[in-house]
Amino acid sequence: MKPRRSVLAVPGSNPKMIAKAKTLPVDEVFLDLEDAVAPGAKAAARANIVAALNEPGWGSQLRVVRVNDWSTEWTFADVISVVEGAGSWLDAILLPKVTDAGQVRALDLLLTQVEKVSGLEVGRIGIEPQLENALGLRNIDEIATASPRVQTLVFGPADFMASINMRTLVVGEQPEGYDVGDAYHHILMTILLAARAHGLQAIDGPYLQVRDVDGFRRAAARTAALGFDGKWVLHPDQVDACNEIFSPRQADYDRAELILETYAFHTSEAGGARGAVMLGDEMIDEASAKMAQVVADKGRAAGMTRTDA
Ligand code: GLV
Ligand code: MG
Repeated sequence: MKPRRSVLAVPGSNPKMIAKAKTLPVDEVFLDLEDAVAPGAKAAARANIVAALNEPGWGSQLRVVRVNDWSTEWTFADVISVVEGAGSWLDAILLPKVTDAGQVRALDLLLTQVEKVSGLEVGRIGIEPQLENALGLRNIDEIATASPRVQTLVFGPADFMASINMRTLVVGEQPEGYDVGDAYHHILMTILLAARAHGLQAIDGPYLQVRDVDGFRRAAARTAALGFDGKWVLHPDQVDACNEIFSPRQADYDRAELILETYAFHTSEAGGARGAVMLGDEMIDEASAKMAQVVADKGRAAGMTRTDA
């Protein structure tokens, strides 16, 4: 799967922001038809998005559209218009406020029909369910496995906090009065565990204080440390920090490749077929090699090369 370290949110109603997005070095751009677009602007935004996806000038970013959730009257028309109009350019549909597996299956069925009538390869367009409420989190395993199209599990912190009545207005910061830990830990770990259990990417949502790049760095570094694959960015200033934070550090990447190389040699016949070996002062075994593989895979996917070899 292609990396999704940085996922840029762009309102579908704003052609200038879409034009700018095409030039930014993010791993994914999602064009929004949901909460960043006013109800009266949804129809025009669909047309903007179709036009923008068909225009040249995109980089290697994954191109995704966030449709409205199934409780609205807009979802089916969102899907039909963007897939009919620009399906061959579309990598995935981001489905917000998912509550259960049925909503993912409904989108899968609709996508299949539109792909067929449009002469597109059936099943190529992925689904990114967004977890934004208690019910969705409770049903996360069923959601994750509802369709082979599911590629990622995405956290929606603002809607999530509202849905559980968490007493804060600042996304990414702890609710005042809760001073015994991280109020988001359970939610983040539930998403991460489901992603790992089902072979999907885990993506953290937005940090809304766009002028506070240090705050963004702190929030991103926390979920990167847990094991998340990427995070939303809302502003060009957040992009470089995000790519850096969700890529391995160079020294870690070099070390991981060295561990893999050393372990592969010593476990081979030529190297003596040993299970545990010393690398400097550290003993490495099969489990160390697995940890190293995670870091090496992320680095390779991000295009990193060794500086120690
Ligand atoms: C994003 O959609 C959020 O609700 O945080
Ligand atoms: Mg939301």
